Amino acid sequence: MGGQEQYNTISLKTGGHVKNWNSCKVGNSGEDVYEKQLIDLLSKSNKVLDMGCSCGEFTLEMSQYCDNLIGVDLSQEMIDIANKLKNERDICNVDFICTDSKDDVLSSYEFDLIYCRRGPTSIILNNKCLKSGGTIFGIHREGYDIVKKRLIEAGFKDIKIKEYLAYEYFNTQDDFAKFLNRLSGNIDYTDPENYEKFKRKLIEHTDGAGIFYREWRYIWKAVKP
Ligand SMILES: C[S@@+](CC[C@H](N)C(=O)[O-])C[C@H]1O[C@@H](n2cnc3c(N)ncnc32)[C@H](O)[C@@H]1O
Repeated sequence: MGGQEQYNTISLKTGGHVKNWNSCKVGNSGEDVYEKQLIDLLSKSNKVLDMGCSCGEFTLEMSQYCDNLIGVDLSQEMIDIANKLKNERDICNVDFICTDSKDDVLSSYEFDLIYCRRGPTSIILNNKCLKSGGTIFGIHREGYDIVKKRLIEAGFKDIKIKEYLAYEYFNTQDDFAKFLNRLSGNIDYTDPENYEKFKRKLIEHTDGAGIFYREWRYIWKAVKP
């Protein structure tokens, strides 16, 4: 097993991409800023795409702020969980589609807003489904130069990219292990078999104040001409 399949297995075993640990943050958290700015954009949009929605937890949470939301992910397992959560919560303005961001399935749609919270940035180049005047909005922790290059290459205007730094402190080792699982998606750090690897992570991420993670993020936003 490897790649996407392994990623799905660990994600499913450890509860998808839902926050299931206790922590507190110090500094200016890009994740928090992103959520606030997204809620504002959602309230001004009719048709919205969540690219790389995973198990749909965040999509369903955001659905209360807009009329119509479509979550897309290439993992059928994640889309199945998303549909299950949607039905359990009786949410009617969200649909989930299993497809690759590069596939044509989406070209028949016209979105006002595409958001991409740590999802595939290939959507920047495959942006046929975004209306002229529509906004694309993302947050990532990798690939700054690639995102910038793609936004320019795809002809977007009003490109804005801003960096954020915060420190997240965890209450217990178990909280940190759960956090790492969601972050990496390829090792289950709560599994005793991986304790040696987890111990190395603990050493790297402990300072006088406790167990920490340096949360560097960049938020990017642009408009389609
Ligand atoms: C780090 S998770 C982000 C999860 C979610 N957006 C969130 O904020 O919790 C990235 C997701 O993007 C999906 N993904 C990766 N490449 C993709 C692609 N080319 N097309 C569609 N989905 C993709 C993965 O299956 C995974 O669920």
